[in-house]
Amino acid sequence: MKPTIALTKGRVEKQFLKFFASLSYDVEPLINKGRKLRVETDDFLFVFAKGVDVTTYVEHGIADLGIVGEDILAEFQPDVYNLFPLPFGECRMALAKEKGKEWPEGKRRIASKYTNITKEYFKQKGESVEIFKLEGSVELAPILGLADGIVDIVETGTTLKENGLVVTDEFMHFSARCIANRSSLKIKRNELAKVIEAFQRGLTVK
Ligand code: PRP
Repeated sequence: MKPTIALTKGRVEKQFLKFFASLSYDVEPLINKGRKLRVETDDFLFVFAKGVDVTTYVEHGIADLGIVGEDILAEFQPDVYNLFPLPFGECRMALAKEKGKEWPEGKRRIASKYTNITKEYFKQKGESVEIFKLEGSVELAPILGLADGIVDIVETGTTLKENGLVVTDEFMHFSARCIANRSSLKIKRNELAKVIEAFQRGLTVK
C-alpha cells in the first residue's frame, strides 16, 4: 500500500509542492487537484487538512507522515515523531500591539489562536493576563478593542503592518516539520525510508 502523507493546506502546501518537485517527485496531480481533499500520485496518497487536523490524522495512524508547522506542534503537543525540519515555513511567535499605543497599567488582555503558548509565555514572565481564544485573523482583536495585544505567528510581517500593529517581543522560531506516526515508522519502515531519505537529501542540497 502506498504511504499516506497528510499535508497542511494553504501556505505550507504551496511551499511543500515546490520542495517536493525539486526532489523529482511527480506533483502534477497535486497542483491540479481542484477542491479534492484526497489525491493519489505515483508514489503516495495525499490528504489535505488544516494543520492541527494533520497531527490528529498522523497521531491515529490514518496518515503515516505529516507536513505541518512547528507552531502547531508547540501548541498542541501531539503524540507523534517529530522527525526533522523542512526548508520552508519559517516564522516566529510574537507579542504585538497597536502602533503608538502603550500597554495598559493593569492586567493585559491578549488574543491568540495559540492559548497554550500564550499561557506559558506569560507564566515564564510571572505575569497574569486575560487570554481570549480566537480561531483566526487575530490582528482584529486590538483594533476592535477585544484585547490590548496578540500572540501570533509572523512570517513576512505584512499582516501586522497592514493592520497597524507592531511586534514588542519575539520568542520562538519555527519552520515546517515532517512528522510520523509512531507505529508506521516500524511497520512501513522500508516504504517510508525512501521518502524520508529523499526529504533529507533535499535538505542537504538546499
Ligand atoms: C497567519 C498568522 C498571521 C499571518 C502572518 O495567519 O496568524 O495572521 O499568517 O503572516 P505574515 O507575517 O506573512 O503577514 P494565516 O494566514 O495562517 O490565517 P488565519 O489568520 O486565518 O489563521
